[in-house]
Amino acid sequence: MKKYFKIFLMIMLVTVFLVGSAFAGIVQTDEAQKWASENGKARQRFNFIVFGDNRPTSPTRTLPDVLNIILKEISFIRPDFAVNTGDLIWGYFGTPKQAREEFSAFTKRYDKYAENVDMLFVAGNHDCPTEEIAAVYRELFGKKLYYDFTFGNSHFVIIDTNFPRSWLEKGQKYGFYNVNDGEHKLAMVDWTKKVLGKDVGHTFVFGHVPVFSALTPNFGEHPKSFTTKENRDELLKLLLDKKISAYFAGHEHIFYAQSEGNTKFFTIGGGGAPLYGPTTGGYSINTGEGPDYKEVKSDPEVEYGGRAKGYHYDLHFPAGALSIFSYMLVTVDKDKVSYDLLVPHSFEVKYLKGNDGISPEASAVIDNRAPYKRTLRGVTFLMPYSGKGYEVSGSYVGSRDWKVKPAKVAPEVLEVKKVKDSLAKVRVKITIPGSNSIDVLLKVK
Ligand SMILES: [Fe+2]
Repeated sequence: MKKYFKIFLMIMLVTVFLVGSAFAGIVQTDEAQKWASENGKARQRFNFIVFGDNRPTSPTRTLPDVLNIILKEISFIRPDFAVNTGDLIWGYFGTPKQAREEFSAFTKRYDKYAENVDMLFVAGNHDCPTEEIAAVYRELFGKKLYYDFTFGNSHFVIIDTNFPRSWLEKGQKYGFYNVNDGEHKLAMVDWTKKVLGKDVGHTFVFGHVPVFSALTPNFGEHPKSFTTKENRDELLKLLLDKKISAYFAGHEHIFYAQSEGNTKFFTIGGGGAPLYGPTTGGYSINTGEGPDYKEVKSDPEVEYGGRAKGYHYDLHFPAGALSIFSYMLVTVDKDKVSYDLLVPHSFEVKYLKGNDGISPEASAVIDNRAPYKRTLRGVTFLMPYSGKGYEVSGSYVGSRDWKVKPAKVAPEVLEVKKVKDSLAKVRVKITIPGSNSIDVLLKVK
């Protein structure tokens, strides 16, 4: 009996090793803490991606191709996890069946390009415009619309700034409201006050709408963000009192950053939805004056590109707000946090040899078009399965002598995942200097 138990245990261990974490994939909101306990326990160093707003231009239209690039690059980076800040679909005025089809278009893209990256979600206004569509969203991504988890030395708090309109009172639209999603003892404002302020290294808060709106900073008649200043200030005060590290949002299809005290407020809405505002990000961006809504110097000939004024374009657009497709890599290193904004097409992997599951040798060139050194942990090769393992090496071309030299940081094999009896996916870690390329050669031992 003991012998059979040992064999059973061996099979279980091998299965766990080959299949990987049971939670790999879309992390349901209700499972987030369980997932984080399993994957983030005692971690002092880890990284995560923030991106969002990848909805189509209008109903029935397809998701943008730039989403494929962003997902592919997230998969190359292979962070510990990614957080999507919402607006996956068009949603508005559609049926629950149509919303389900739209969500399915997103999950198909995710499965195709980034299935190995654990991903968590923040509900956007397009995802939950009605209770019926919110029910579909909750079925796919988890019942809790606000939730938290502790990953290593950091606390992550996800709030819902866009409950279905039927749950709100008259005059409420987007904001920080004390509504209960039916999955908590406390309604959201009371819950947030209770959970914030854990004794951990860093606290990161996520909501769909930005605390500092770049498009309607003055809470105009048609605000893109919080409906009233009073409501926004209630959340702002709480976040500052609790000394959180950063608040991440999307909703406005731009990149924007603002600091208040020691807290950073980011809008990272460049996931592929139509861009808002001028790409120049305010013509006075290089004056060093920083965002100041009263002082922004604009040049309509440059900033509007001759475009007729209309919705969004005649609004304030502060210096520093960039109308670009982008995503952010956040790195936690003990008590330090760094925030790197990346644009799609920063990384490229071109397979030159093998990668067919048959050849014992495969090679690829990996380009880093970002200006800084980056480590990619998710470049994979399809190889014949080898019980003896694999040998990997890296090289680069000298910029002056054009000679091939060994990479300064040698690549490493991180994982061998058996697929079928004779095939394996071999995942490699590669460090590439800024604005450079590394050739990787992988051989069966
Ligand atoms: Fe939105």
